Amino acid sequence: MDVISVIRTKRDRGELSPEQIDWVIDAYTRGEVADEQMSALAMAILLNGMNRTEIARWTAAMIASGERMDFSALSRPTADKHSTGGVGDKITLPLAPLVAACGAAVPQLSGRGLGHTGGTLDKLESIPGWRALLSNEEMLHVLDTTGAVICAAGDGLAPADKKLYALRDVTGTVEAIPLIASSIMSKKIAEGTGSLVLDVKVGTGAFMKTIEDARELAATMVGLGTDHGVKTVALLTDMATPLGLTAGNALEVRESVEVLAGGGPADVVELTLALAREMLDAAGLPDADPAKALADGSAMDVWRRMIAAQGGDPDAALPVARERQTITAPASGVLTRLDAYGVGVAAWRLGAGRARKEDPVQAGAGIEIHAKPGDRVTEGQPLLTLHTDTPEKFAYATEALEGTYDIGAAGTAYEATPVVRE
Ligand code: URA
Repeated sequence: MDVISVIRTKRDRGELSPEQIDWVIDAYTRGEVADEQMSALAMAILLNGMNRTEIARWTAAMIASGERMDFSALSRPTADKHSTGGVGDKITLPLAPLVAACGAAVPQLSGRGLGHTGGTLDKLESIPGWRALLSNEEMLHVLDTTGAVICAAGDGLAPADKKLYALRDVTGTVEAIPLIASSIMSKKIAEGTGSLVLDVKVGTGAFMKTIEDARELAATMVGLGTDHGVKTVALLTDMATPLGLTAGNALEVRESVEVLAGGGPADVVELTLALAREMLDAAGLPDADPAKALADGSAMDVWRRMIAAQGGDPDAALPVARERQTITAPASGVLTRLDAYGVGVAAWRLGAGRARKEDPVQAGAGIEIHAKPGDRVTEGQPLLTLHTDTPEKFAYATEALEGTYDIGAAGTAYEATPVVRE
């Protein structure tokens, strides 16, 4: 087998054979296929697509590139959630302990932020002492004793995806449905969860900008999970506007703790409960009541034990950025749009995200949102507060916010997009 013939097959809109797929994934993982050759193949796939048979084989080859975890010895059914990524998407933080409080085991292997979307591990690392890197034994111990664990995927899990995802990120080949679906599902299937709920984001702040693309991605991933014996369902949820009232690491932890304490923004609570119900249903626990577990403090108890089991202090003060700047409403009326992408880019520029994988993030950086679409605003009232340790970034962040919101005259009709679209 030679890599040039594999690239040519896809370049010329052909179907990759199972042998070609198995070989190219294995050879790339071992370093026999070079990055420039794999990036040419990834671009050919982005431009010319893959059919279901090819996607299934590609996913299976990525799973086979590493180890598989096994949670079958646990006494509880396992349930996991994966979001395709968005702005202010802190849902994993309240969701994992909530679902654990209702009786499922939640092994949540999470990632770091890259570009304008935040990462769960970066958020949790703003809690003093908390560790994202656990051995497989430590992960199982935390899961078994607290019911939930949120940690980084070990190097042994789908190593082909780890390499390929980093390559796609720097070659403009992330936004391809076959590559996104196989990337996400190879990790989730290798992780060994019994059931999986996918939160497929739709809108300006998401990879999928249209509902049609989001449907296709969701259907592809549900098909892959089901074929591998994982009970998989998907919700399509809104990412045209940021979730909740914060974007940034420690800011989002604070908001998540508010949700666990029975408060928090309505959209974050609604999505957390909707995903919790799907996860509990998929795990065979349809009678559990997640709203009760939020209200009676049992989800908060699991959160505290889970954070402490990973070295974190749930009572420690969270980091606060050294500098703030407020953006005020230029007119009175109704806020009719607040664009998720613009807010995400601004939070990233303030230091909440990274430009390269190895960059550090600022725990306190980010954006507080004082008004959401549909809210009435008065000229001069705060709309957004920018937080950073590096005030020279204010101008750069403010530039990203230009044109990201609209204010209509008082009385302008506003039709809210539902949080859960389908
Ligand atoms: N998340 C992943 O894990 N992979 C992708 O390709 C996109 C989002």
